[in-house]
Amino acid sequence: MRNDRIVVCVIGCGKVSDFAHFPALSKNPGCVIKYACDLIPERAWKRKEEYPEVEQVITDYHVALADPEVDAVYVLTPVTGHRDISIDALRAGKHVFCEKPISYTYEMAREMAQEAEKAGKLLDIGVCNRYHRSVELLEQMNREGAFGKIYHVYCSFRNYRCIPQLGGAYTTKELSGGGVLIDWGIHFFDLIFYVLGGVKLQTVTCDTYSEMAKRISDYKYIGMYAGPAQPDGINDVEEFVSGYMRTDKASISFNGAWAQNIDHDEMYIDFLGDKSGARLTYGGSFEFFTTRDGVLQKVEPKYEIPTHYEVESEAFFRAIRTGEKTRAHIGNILESQKVLDILYASAEKREEIRL
Ligand SMILES: NC(=O)c1ccc[n+]([C@@H]2O[C@H](COP(=O)([O-])OP(=O)(O)OC[C@H]3O[C@@H](n4cnc5c(N)ncnc54)[C@H](O)[C@@H]3O)[C@@H](O)[C@H]2O)c1
Repeated sequence: MRNDRIVVCVIGCGKVSDFAHFPALSKNPGCVIKYACDLIPERAWKRKEEYPEVEQVITDYHVALADPEVDAVYVLTPVTGHRDISIDALRAGKHVFCEKPISYTYEMAREMAQEAEKAGKLLDIGVCNRYHRSVELLEQMNREGAFGKIYHVYCSFRNYRCIPQLGGAYTTKELSGGGVLIDWGIHFFDLIFYVLGGVKLQTVTCDTYSEMAKRISDYKYIGMYAGPAQPDGINDVEEFVSGYMRTDKASISFNGAWAQNIDHDEMYIDFLGDKSGARLTYGGSFEFFTTRDGVLQKVEPKYEIPTHYEVESEAFFRAIRTGEKTRAHIGNILESQKVLDILYASAEKREEIRL
């Protein structure tokens, strides 16, 4: 702490730091950004140029862990670093905000949760969508019975030419842990579980496909999130996934695609209740459908939409001060990570898994 301001180090100065976390941290008056850290120093220097309040640039995060003034670190590296850096930081007595997915497997995620518990420090996960105002409203409306019984949730996380960094880390299973399911699915399942107030899984079935970029050089992308395709690289992850889950609350069906031969970008979750329904468009807004005299009525809810990354960082900072556990605390996210393991296991065995 410095003059009651929380001192942080940002580890990993790539894309998500650029569009999400540095903008949010720089607007947070309760924060000192003491270190920007990246193995590639130019990336950290770029952040310092953009945010002059960054005090120091480092390439070795251990420097920040050894600094007693540092209260918290942001782990914004690819998933490869999530577990080890978070555990190092927790053991050094720092609070940790770690980007999603938590890690490769549920076991690794549990290990991280246990380390946080042992250290008595916070470990929040970057499930930023839980902080959308629309998501908060849906969760509240469901809790208050606005939907009646939600019996089914359908979710689509499909785009058509968006395999990220084809041939690079995202499509190399050893580095990424999987494809569209772990990368995009985590956000969608986590939202569904949150709005439903948590679920107990009963059966899970899933299929994964890797058909669209069998020859990397033949795949023509429209968006390449993480840089140009690497034609000689590896692509051993799924770019399409489909599945079905039964839970103690609603059943859930889903399709996800980084790429498909249908030129539509469909990113939404439908909550089907016996009284009302809602379509949550990924990224913010939702439509609510109810009935009057048996006729379906569409209601466009009106609400302020603050930047969810700012709300996320404020919640993390508040928790550091009060010791409360936020909705993004790792203990609340483990189920979202666990389901990924089960879905992948079902796809590998090509059979339904009963829990
Ligand atoms: N919540 C969201 O909305 C959201 C959006 C995009 C990405 N993400 C997640 O954020 C994470 C980072 O994604 P990205 O797209 O910014 O990746 P990126 O590759 O653009 O940036 C990661 C940076 O981490 C650095 N790095 C790696 N290991 C390091 C280490 N040991 N020490 C210091 N720096 C190190 C790399 O050099 C790189 O600059 C991923 O887990 C991704 O899934 C979340």
